[in-house]
Amino acid sequence: MSTAQALRHRLAATLTEDDWLHDNTWRAAIETEPRELFLGPALFQQTGLPESTAWTALRRDSVPTQEWLNLTYRNDSWVTQVDGVLAEEATGPVEGSPSSSSTLPGLVVQMIERAGTTPGDRVLEIGTGTGYSTALLSNVLGARNVTSVEIDPDAAERARNALDTAGHHPTLITNDGLLGAPDGAPYDRLIAACSVRFVPYPWLRQIKPGGTILVTLGGWSFGHGLVRLTVDANGEATGRFLPGYTSFMLARPHDHPPRGRLEFLPGEQRPSRIDPTLLDDWTGRFVGQLAAPSAERFGAGAEQILFDVATGSQARTRPAEHEGWIVEQRGPLKLWDAIEDAIEVWTAAGSPHLREFGLTITRVRQRVWLGTPDGPSWLLPV
Ligand SMILES: C[S@@+](CC[C@H](N)C(=O)[O-])C[C@H]1O[C@@H](n2cnc3c(N)ncnc32)[C@H](O)[C@@H]1O
Repeated sequence: MSTAQALRHRLAATLTEDDWLHDNTWRAAIETEPRELFLGPALFQQTGLPESTAWTALRRDSVPTQEWLNLTYRNDSWVTQVDGVLAEEATGPVEGSPSSSSTLPGLVVQMIERAGTTPGDRVLEIGTGTGYSTALLSNVLGARNVTSVEIDPDAAERARNALDTAGHHPTLITNDGLLGAPDGAPYDRLIAACSVRFVPYPWLRQIKPGGTILVTLGGWSFGHGLVRLTVDANGEATGRFLPGYTSFMLARPHDHPPRGRLEFLPGEQRPSRIDPTLLDDWTGRFVGQLAAPSAERFGAGAEQILFDVATGSQARTRPAEHEGWIVEQRGPLKLWDAIEDAIEVWTAAGSPHLREFGLTITRVRQRVWLGTPDGPSWLLPV
């Protein structure tokens, strides 16, 4: 057995021990697919933290083979593109946010299993990225049953070459995956490797009745929740959020609109009814985002800052002099009032994890609910 093969087997064993991987069919795919092929010639690493947030490329030919393979077969995500610049094209440090990556193998295989994917299924993947997850799907389902859509032409070409070299020829589409892939519809499962602010309606029309959509709901306040939806014969869907803490980069068309320098202006001040640090909690942050979906959140702890780019509405919290917190708000949307209302509903229910929430999608609205479908609910910004 070669070094790479041995590392693949070790990765599969680790993923099984660590509860990411349960099914021997997918385990065999992890043991077979050469992740080094999909990571390509270079990766980005964030260096100089906390002073600098620049990304520096690490080239495969600059490190010993064994070291590169060890990196490849760690259960880690690797960033392959920052703001449109592929790692192999970087000529120096790049400032920006990851725009494509290889998801950690544990999460890739967990998503596949959680979608209920079994041999015989036809799968639509949104966000091909490096192509590694597409290779795992092709390995088990057969490439003719796999369609993957990637919005970034450079990432798509890189993935296509890697998949070709690995001997897989699934249907690869370079386009906005929020439109789905109607030509190959209907599919049994849709697995999204990017998050969305609401579920795109074309997806609902392309999944068979009884089929599954597995997607992370995200937003501009960094709230994330993985939801598994079952689609019905009317093209409507419902399902619950899943345990754990899954996040993906936002689908590019759902990213926040461009804005100038953030300038905070004086507003009305009053005591806050809630502890602002609740927005640092995984579910608290998601609930806050449900209540103020068009706001971006900055800051942390007792000093939260919310800014709504469309209306210029702002909210900022700080500790009060003696006890409690002060909120200062400005603009037509009372962002903090809405967040307080929602957080109070959540805390009154015992501050449960997101898995106590669900999502129901009809033809006209998308509603996240707490507890049961007739419980307290919030509309997504469709
Ligand atoms: C986390 S990466 C995917 C990782 C991939 N599953 C892997 O294992 O290599 C997310 C990908 O989604 C892509 N993406 C973002 N918005 C998209 C959209 N609207 N349609 C299709 N792909 C999109 C990004 O360009 C990026 O390559």
